[in-house]
Parts: sequence; C-alpha cells; structure tokens
Amino acid sequence: MSNRILVVDDESIILQLATMVLTSRGFEVLTAQSGQECLDVVKREKPDLVLLDYMMPVMDGMTTLRHLRHLHPDTYVIMLTGKGSEQIAVEVMKAGAADYILKPFKNQDLVERIENVLRIRRIEMHNRELREERERLLSEIEVWNMELERRVAEKTRELELAHAEILQAEKLAALGHVSAGMAHEIRNPLNAIGLFAQILRPVLAHDTEKSGYIDKLLQEVDRIDAILSKLLDASKAPKVTLEPVCLIGTIDRILETFGEQLKASKVKVEKHYDQVPPLMMADSGEIEQIFTNLFANSLYEMQHGGVLGVTVQCDDQKVTIEVSDTGGGIPRENLSQIFDPFFTTKTKGTGFGLSVVLRIVKNYHGHINVRSTAGEGTVFNMEFPLARQSN
Ligand SMILES: Nc1ncnc2c1ncn2[C@@H]1O[C@H](COP(=O)(O)OP(=O)(O)OP(=O)(O)O)[C@@H](O)[C@H]1O
Ligand SMILES: [Mg+2]
Repeated sequence: MSNRILVVDDESIILQLATMVLTSRGFEVLTAQSGQECLDVVKREKPDLVLLDYMMPVMDGMTTLRHLRHLHPDTYVIMLTGKGSEQIAVEVMKAGAADYILKPFKNQDLVERIENVLRIRRIEMHNRELREERERLLSEIEVWNMELERRVAEKTRELELAHAEILQAEKLAALGHVSAGMAHEIRNPLNAIGLFAQILRPVLAHDTEKSGYIDKLLQEVDRIDAILSKLLDASKAPKVTLEPVCLIGTIDRILETFGEQLKASKVKVEKHYDQVPPLMMADSGEIEQIFTNLFANSLYEMQHGGVLGVTVQCDDQKVTIEVSDTGGGIPRENLSQIFDPFFTTKTKGTGFGLSVVLRIVKNYHGHINVRSTAGEGTVFNMEFPLARQSN
C-alpha cells in the first residue's frame, strides 16, 4: 500500500508542485490550504505524514502542529519553514515535528526526507506494537499466575482435608480392633459383678446404708456398660437397615426427646427448614444418633440459656444441615481433636459422641465441619450427597 501524504500550504502553487513531485514518486497525495482544513482531512483520511507549512494565516503552522501531535500522534509531521531561522527549527522539533525542511527545497531532498521520516515512523510504530504486545502478555501471565496460585492453594487445602480424614479413619479402624475385643472381655466380668450385686441386695435390705452402696455399685456397673456400648458404636460398623428416612421428621422427633431439658435450661430452638429434602436411604437409628449427640453437646454448653439453631437446605445434589449453639465454643487448640474417640473436656464425658457422628456421616458419604468461636458458640455443618435416582 502506498504511503499517504497530506500537503498543507496556503499557496496553491506549492500544493501543485508538491503533488506533482510526490505523485510521480508513488505517494498518494492529499492537500489542504489551511490549518483547520488540515485537521479535518487528517481526522477523516488518517494520512501517514503531513507536510506542513510554517507560515499560514488564521491557524499558523505551529498551532496546527500542536493540535496534530495531540489528536493524531500516528500521523507524523514534517514542517516546511522559511530559510535562515535556526530558532524556528528548534521550536518546531520541540513541538513534536519529525523533521523540518527549509524552503525553497530541492525535489530530491524533499523525497529523501519524507522517505526517511516514513521509515522511522514504521520502526517506531512497530516498536510500539511490540511493547503493547509485551504488556499484554505480561498481564496475561500475571492472571495465569494468580489463577495457578489459587488452584494450588485450593488443592493443598483439599489434600490437607483428605489427609485429616484418612488419619481419622485409621484411628477409628485401629480403635475398632481393640475395642471389640476389649468390650467383650470386660462385659463378662462386669455382668458377673452386676449379678452378684443383685444377689446381695435382698441380703442387705435391712441395712439402708449398705443397700445404698449396692445401688451405687449397680449404677456404676450400668455406666461402664453404657461406655462399652458407646465404644462399640464408635468403632464397629454396626448392622444397619436401610429405609427411607425423613430428615426433618427425625430432627423434630429428637428435639422432642430433649423437650424437658430445653425448657429447664431456657434454650430457644430456632428451626430454618428452607427446603424439604427428599427421603434419605439410611438407618433411622443412625440418623437419630447424629442429632442426639450434636444436640446433647450443644445443650451441655447452654445450661443457662441460649439458642439452638437447626438449618436444613438442599439442592439436587446434596442436603446441608447446620446445628448451631450459642454456648461456650470450642477453643482453637481443641478443634482438631474433637472427633477423636476418647477426646473429652467433660468430667463425666466419654469422648465418643462426635466420633460416632463422624463415623455415621462418613457411612453415608457425607462431610462434617465445625466452626467455632470460643465464647460465642459453635456450628456443625454436615453435607450428605443425594443419591441419583437410578430408575
Ligand atoms: N457444641 C459444642 N460446644 C462446645 N464444645 C463442644 C461441642 N461439641 C463438642 N464439643 C467438645 O468436643 C468434645 C468431644 O465431644 P464428644 O461428643 O465427642 O464427647 P463428649 O461430649 O465429651 O462425651 P460424650 O458425648 O461421650 O458424652 C467435648 O468434650 C467438648 O469439649
Ligand atoms: Mg457428646
């Protein structure tokens, strides 16, 4: 494509002359006779170069040059100036002209200067494109980097969670082996103790103090037995019977069993059943155990009043249940241990409640998380995937 040059001069003889010379050298030539016309043509035609006369009436060459540089920086300007003024030449170059030519000029000289400026223009524009491309690539790399960092952080977190879950599963498995045998071994002598204590009861019936000891003995035997049952619950995968279970119905039923305790400790229940989840194929006893344990823990924390919150939500993939309380919260250093069997901060606790909850949640391919702020309360969040309908 030939270069397009706009010649601007108020003298038409100069315009004609320049047009003739430049056209014969293969340039496409446009003309304008005033500064204003020059700006209009440049705006419309976007020539590569303007040959601009310094001395023009109304809008002089310098003013036109400044406008051009400001509005159309891609159009380069060669100024035509009167002979003998070095001062003007300096001024013109400072204002952004690419070159200046003294009038009267030799045709060959004019053409060479123009070709020279056009070459410089091509190089400078190419450089600018390269710089812009570089900037664009750099910012793209930056975006990729950020995305990469985000993904690495996300994967690291997922790995950490998976690792914690594996550790937990290993602990439960190890506990399963030990506890099944241990519970069996302890239960036989325990039954014997209970039995003998019961035999002694009528013998000591006349002595209220001593028969009181027998009652205490039997209570403690029952307590040990309950602990052994919980231990087995926590570790063994018990026989389960799958049936369609209504989650909300189960939650309400368990809440009712806590009715007296809720009233006595002035705990308000706030239920948010945003959606009714579909029936879940599960063992109803296991689902009950989840809520019995979570509510028992929350109520233990709110013996002097508070709010027990239950939220149920679901979409087509999962059911989300949150159990929250306004109790004392869990200190940060305990958070990683609360699901461990035997971990308890209560004098009469066994530390099995949450490990049972965790085992059951895992059984149904669910997840359980806890958020807690010491002094403010605790939120247990569970998610159960919804089984896809196979028929
Ligand atoms: N809602 C809660 N608020 C504050 N701490 C809690 C809460 N739930 C659990 N914890 C902490 O986690 C520990 C373990 O709970 P987990 O239910 O496993 O055992 P436990 O309640 O101590 O004993 P058990 O349930 O066998 O009677 C508790 O001792 C308590 O420190
Ligand atoms: Mg508990």
